[in-house]
Amino acid sequence: MYYGHTIFEKSQEGRRGYSLPKSEIKEYKLDEKLKRQSCPKLPEVSEFDVVRHYTNVSFKNHGIETGFYPLGSCTMKYNPKINQDIAAMEGFSTIHPYQPVETTQGLLKIYYETQKILSNISGLDTYSLNPYAGAHGELIGLMIIKKFHKDNNDLKRTKIIVPDSAHGTNPASATVAGFESVEVKSNKDGTVNIEDLKKVVDDTTAGIMLTNPNTVGMFEKDILEIQKIIHEAGGLLYYDGANLNPILGMARPGDMGFDIMHINLHKTFSTPHGGGGPGSGPVGVTKRLKKYLPSPVVRKAGDLYLIDYKDEDSIGQISHFYGNMGVVIRAYAYLLTNGKERLPEIAKMSVLNANYVKESLKDVYKLPIEGICKHEFVFDGLKDESIDVRTLDIAKRLLDFDMHPPTVYFPLMFKETMMIEPVENESKQTIDHFIKIMRTIAKEAKKDPSILKNAPYNTPVRRLDEALAARKPIVSFKDYTDSLKED
Ligand SMILES: Cc1ncc(COP(=O)(O)O)c(C=O)c1O
Repeated sequence: MYYGHTIFEKSQEGRRGYSLPKSEIKEYKLDEKLKRQSCPKLPEVSEFDVVRHYTNVSFKNHGIETGFYPLGSCTMKYNPKINQDIAAMEGFSTIHPYQPVETTQGLLKIYYETQKILSNISGLDTYSLNPYAGAHGELIGLMIIKKFHKDNNDLKRTKIIVPDSAHGTNPASATVAGFESVEVKSNKDGTVNIEDLKKVVDDTTAGIMLTNPNTVGMFEKDILEIQKIIHEAGGLLYYDGANLNPILGMARPGDMGFDIMHINLHKTFSTPHGGGGPGSGPVGVTKRLKKYLPSPVVRKAGDLYLIDYKDEDSIGQISHFYGNMGVVIRAYAYLLTNGKERLPEIAKMSVLNANYVKESLKDVYKLPIEGICKHEFVFDGLKDESIDVRTLDIAKRLLDFDMHPPTVYFPLMFKETMMIEPVENESKQTIDHFIKIMRTIAKEAKKDPSILKNAPYNTPVRRLDEALAARKPIVSFKDYTDSLKED
């Protein structure tokens, strides 16, 4: 019998999922005009219905807890549950943002120490833990660049250089901050083309945004030359720290000459990434830019931790109160658990795993950039280009094997991009299984491309009209029932 897909369809009038003891509080008569005119439309279901419904819905979802998730650029790694418990501890979760600092010293100590640890890891002087995400950090970094040039009365600097391999948020943030973004081309090996860079740099350059390693997993080996070119032209260097994982404890953006950076705490340091969940993109700067940081920044005076809300040169406050406090606490717990001894291991394992997958599959998938990669790399579809199968088909077929596909069609440098990031904490068995499945899929493609073209077969829904799903998503019960009527 059909029970319905949604909890609303399972509703039966009068069914209850709770029983409360008789209230001992005297009834209070509300003024009639304060009362609502009709009951809210809530599903009427038993506790059992609720538990079954949500358990079954959760099975339809693929998460890092259910399977391998090699989504390049996203660093979908396992996050220790204990850090979640720590962030949810009552002493943290009940803090009120207006509490006097004398009563929140524990939290401020965590902020202060996290600021310091991030400085040590990245080689930048001071951090603000305020921004809510990587892209938010980018915007703040660009606002700092703008203010810096304005204070120097250097108003002609209106351009931000962004490589063609950059994450889409980079040019978008530059535009939102009021800059014009100028593209610089990459070499065949994915790194910035120095000759092209020299051509686009001039006295209108406000700065450059770079990810290092970049989005194809290659380390910008010419970074010192790049920093020289930009600094000599009067610009600043912004480091997109989304790819910090593979250089943790090995190399520091500050030492490479970067002036500003953000770190995606929700990728590198123990908070699940994606799905619009809570994020945190702390921004770090060199000493000369410290005064521009968004407030608040936590500082220490004697034994007391203080929170500074005002600095007249600051770009201002860009999120409320402490930003996403839970994400900062998880990052702090993760950093202390690993310590400086184990951070380099994270980097090494992420690089080893990526190279292992790359080398194990390059005889069947087209590898456009040879050589040692960092934490991720790209394939450009199948090696045998005569087979009529696209990257999208490979991605869909992977779903039948309970694996999340890699990032597809990004970056835009290749036609059939598949960006694979296995991350550091997957076991060799899991990675070998992924390699085996990828080889099986390549064999299927050769034998009968239709197997891939009609995939997936085992998922709750088959191939969706992805453009329609993105542009006209059905996110409410009403839209859902209306869409059934249209059918
Ligand atoms: C290279 C790169 N830069 C920037 C971002 C933006 O970060 P966020 O999603 O936290 O805004 C991402 C996100 O995955 C990324 O991969």
